Amino acid sequence: MKILVTGSSGLIGSEVSTYFAKQGHSIHGVDNNQRSVFFGPQGDTTWRLKELQNSLTDFSHHELDIRDRVKVLDLIKSIKPDAIVHTAAQPSHDKAASIPFDDFDVNAVGTLNLLEATRQYCPDSPFVHMSTNKVYGDAPNNIKLKELDTRWDYDDPNYANGIAESFSIDQCKHSLFGASKVAADIMVQEYGRYFGMATCCLRGGCLTGPSHSGVELHGFLSYLVKCNIEGITYKVFGYKGKQVRDNIHSEDVAQFIGLFINSPKIGEVYNLGGGKKNSCSILEAFEICETFSDKKQKFDYIDENRVGDHICYYSDLSKIHAHYPHFRPANSLHDTVEQIIRASLNRL
Ligand SMILES: NC(=O)c1ccc[n+]([C@@H]2O[C@H](COP(=O)([O-])OP(=O)(O)OC[C@H]3O[C@@H](n4cnc5c(N)ncnc54)[C@H](O)[C@@H]3O)[C@@H](O)[C@H]2O)c1
Repeated sequence: MKILVTGSSGLIGSEVSTYFAKQGHSIHGVDNNQRSVFFGPQGDTTWRLKELQNSLTDFSHHELDIRDRVKVLDLIKSIKPDAIVHTAAQPSHDKAASIPFDDFDVNAVGTLNLLEATRQYCPDSPFVHMSTNKVYGDAPNNIKLKELDTRWDYDDPNYANGIAESFSIDQCKHSLFGASKVAADIMVQEYGRYFGMATCCLRGGCLTGPSHSGVELHGFLSYLVKCNIEGITYKVFGYKGKQVRDNIHSEDVAQFIGLFINSPKIGEVYNLGGGKKNSCSILEAFEICETFSDKKQKFDYIDENRVGDHICYYSDLSKIHAHYPHFRPANSLHDTVEQIIRASLNRL
């Protein structure tokens, strides 16, 4: 297959490119290193592009901005990929408010450019879109919670397994990022339902792994590990540091994308995460990190939460496992943190 991967130098895009290349597929990566524009030198993904170019046999890089509609249409017309995996984005919840036009143009309009190009030139090719749990806005914060020693947890039996895809995305605060991702998510669903295309939205919590160019505003575990091993003070914003995040390794995300492309459905939505067993609070993440690095985490506590931040979020994985029973995330949270530490030390 010819697979077009947008955001191919980023965490998920590079993992997906590697995953499919190893199976002998031909990869067309699209990335313009916009992450370095969003986040500065720490967000630069050139190192990852070089790794892909050196390690993958059939990888073509296209330095292209997905906002450029004419070029997106031309590229998809010339390649006619057998599958599209769309991971390029302005990915930060907090960053979006300072760059609202860039955020919407990349996340919403860029997604539309890709969908329409796919519809025009390869309508039968599966289209996988990386959405986010921020489409649920801050509504999960209205669920009754209980405070435990190191974390918040749901105190409502309806959410014992976490948040399902039926959860409302409406009438709550999303952040501008959440709103631009809602626009993209709904458009991806619409191209499925309206035009009968094999599209899906994957609503992730924290996607993580050793290949992230983690920065304070994006890349929870990757940035936390960076702070730990480099002795940087990590800022904890509100909720007593007990806010719970759902974590999944980028390899497991790639594994699921492979399953979807082999057996696609029309206009589907999945919450893709590690579920409760791979969730951790910030305090718990410090502890796991310290176990492997043997370094005490330095942190400051700021008694104000990030706007719209979830107090507790983990995915209900019932639907994804029911539709794709062969999906088996392979990386535990502890393994993942250990891998990130090892890779970060190698890159120092
Ligand atoms: N990492 C997470 O915790 C997380 C959580 C939920 C959802 N997601 C979603 O998953 C997707 C991938 O996230 P990631 O962590 O790999 O992000 P990332 O920032 O590591 O990768 C995104 C890549 O897209 C590229 N890019 C951005 N704008 C572009 C543009 N206009 N044209 C071409 N390339 C562009 C960037 O340079 C970067 O290499 C995003 O849609 C994100 O919203 C990520």
